[in-house]
Amino acid sequence: MGVCECPAWLWLLLSLLWLPLGLPVLGAPLHLICDSGVLERYVLEGKEAENVTMGCAESCSLNENITVPDTKVNFYAWKKMEFGQQAVDIWQGLTLLSEAVLRGQALLANSSQPREPLQLHMDRAVSGLRSLTTLLRALGAQKEATSPPDAAPSAVPLQTITADTFSKLFQVYSNFIRGKLKLYAGEACRTEDR
Ligand SMILES: *[C@@H]1O[C@H](CO)[C@@H](O)[C@H](O)[C@H]1NC(C)=O
Ligand SMILES: *[C@@H]1O[C@H](CO)[C@@H](O)[C@H](O)[C@H]1NC(C)=O
Ligand SMILES: *[C@@H]1O[C@H](CO)[C@@H](O)[C@H](O)[C@H]1NC(C)=O
Repeated sequence: MGVCECPAWLWLLLSLLWLPLGLPVLGAPLHLICDSGVLERYVLEGKEAENVTMGCAESCSLNENITVPDTKVNFYAWKKMEFGQQAVDIWQGLTLLSEAVLRGQALLANSSQPREPLQLHMDRAVSGLRSLTTLLRALGAQKEATSPPDAAPSAVPLQTITADTFSKLFQVYSNFIRGKLKLYAGEACRTEDR
């Protein structure tokens, strides 16, 4: 199996992303997500964004309800899910979250108020989600999630909630990564090691 059918520009982009982290670029991109430091970095970015938006309930309103994945993890139910089901759940959650954050970015760009710090965190979240999507794809999550219906494990419907403020959006971003995504990556990385 090839590691990834990514176009060359993607590798270049990834290399640039990882350089500041001092991580091995040409090593195994597959295992970048298996380095917990990588996930922690995105969790931290999410928390910083949450901090910035804290205490601005009114001015941080999105002025619409955006559907986002529910980040609560029921460990018992999660453990009982097959690995393939977990992959579907994660992939759908990540896709929905990416759409939500892009929507948030568009709303922010459209808003008349000056919101520079928020803009920075929003852009970071967008790029963070892009990288995570790439890393999960390398880990095979997408393949698991899009295998033929008869081969695919019966999908559990994705649980969603709504976000109506920027702080909620960032909260969901960091909770999703430090919750389900981390659990899934842990499991997937153990499987890879075998
Ligand atoms: C968030 O803010 C609190 C209090 O202002 C601070 O102690 C904490 O370190 C901040 N966390 C991040 C991730 O910036
Ligand atoms: C978001 O949903 C809540 C509860 O369903 C509703 O009361 C509110 O008006 C909605 N907000 C917007 C901006 O649509
Ligand atoms: C941006 O604002 C314009 C004019 O108010 C509106 O037509 C457009 O739908 C808005 N875009 C978004 C993403 O909200």
